[in-house]
Amino acid sequence: MKFFVDTADTAEIADLAATGLLDGVTTNPSLIMKSGRDFMEVTREICGLVDGPVSAEVVALDHAGMMREAEILRKIADNVCIKVPLTIDGLKTCKALTGEGTMVNVTLCFSANQALLAAKAGASFVSPFVGRHDDNGFDGMELIRDIRLIYDNYAYPTEILVASVRHGIHVLESAKIGADVMTAPPAVIKGLFKHVLTEQGIQGFLADWAKTGQSI
Ligand code: G3P
Repeated sequence: MKFFVDTADTAEIADLAATGLLDGVTTNPSLIMKSGRDFMEVTREICGLVDGPVSAEVVALDHAGMMREAEILRKIADNVCIKVPLTIDGLKTCKALTGEGTMVNVTLCFSANQALLAAKAGASFVSPFVGRHDDNGFDGMELIRDIRLIYDNYAYPTEILVASVRHGIHVLESAKIGADVMTAPPAVIKGLFKHVLTEQGIQGFLADWAKTGQSI
């Protein structure tokens, strides 16, 4: 499963990229606002930090406006992936852009039927929001299971990008279901490395090693 980080914080992205385990980045207008940075400038910087796709979201709601914004955004770097909302205009834009060889991430997906439409529109990625789905009394992971089944039924190449990931269980379930990608905040990704028994084990080995009086 590919790991994307869901942030526009370049220090966090550089930190995770240094692990060699980061496959891409997703941003959205809220994350750009949180960064306090200029959208174009920070997106250009992020594209230089990772080789994989960097999602940059349009804010126009109409097809012509989305195309106009996508034209500006895709010139930033070859690894820009245009993020469009799951609306009729968003999917029209998706079809047009992917037809021209531009990567598209269809975001704000909350139903399996919406994901089916995104696949039919040729999306490179579809982003179902599991955390927000859970928040509203639905089962976010059930949505991922349904999309996986549908995409496999028809061998759709659209990658399932599990978004709005809030904790390690979302990551674990995504991997068990066979999602292609998950995107999570830096703290969630860093939390995956940790286990109390790993820490205790290291302390125990170091204490015993010190008693040997040896060095490597
Ligand atoms: O980038 C889209 C998605 O991951 C947002 O997550 O936590 O704002 O629901 P969240």
